[in-house]
Amino acid sequence: MEHVVLIGPMASGKSSIGKHLAEILGREYIDTDALIVAEHGPITQIFDQMGESTFRQLEESAVAEAIGETRPAVISLGGGAVISPRNRELLEDQTVILLMTDLETVLARANLDKRPLLRDDPEAWNRILEERMPLYEAAADVTFDTGKLPREVLARRIADWLRR
Ligand code: S3P
Repeated sequence: MEHVVLIGPMASGKSSIGKHLAEILGREYIDTDALIVAEHGPITQIFDQMGESTFRQLEESAVAEAIGETRPAVISLGGGAVISPRNRELLEDQTVILLMTDLETVLARANLDKRPLLRDDPEAWNRILEERMPLYEAAADVTFDTGKLPREVLARRIADWLRR
């Protein structure tokens, strides 16, 4: 059985929905950003000290490690993981769920300080999404809008879709 992988733009709820979903499905939850932080320290620090391209290399390793897990898990990826052709190839054999939201919701609820690409320019969220949207859509089996409903409700809806 495949992993369930959550993709989508920054602050679309991938981590919190992923945790709920893993609990509902009785699976392990793996967050590739958390794997990177555990091994290399805060993401802002990695961007500041080593640059984005080093972060992307660390991210490729974390994605490969997560997808390589033998037991089916729920895995959430960082928003930019789909930029990497290698990561996209790994997604081909998984059940991929795109979580979408909008700038207004992100500005209202997200912690932007932890996100180096938004820290100084939150409105960049829209531009970055526009660039990545074709990649998200090509990788995803289904899309859920996470803007309005509580995270638990969304996780249940996704679980229902998986059991379809
Ligand atoms: C990034 C998204 C972040 C994190 C890093 C870069 C991106 O994860 O991986 O700050 O390029 O979209 P979230 O999607 O969890 O914010």
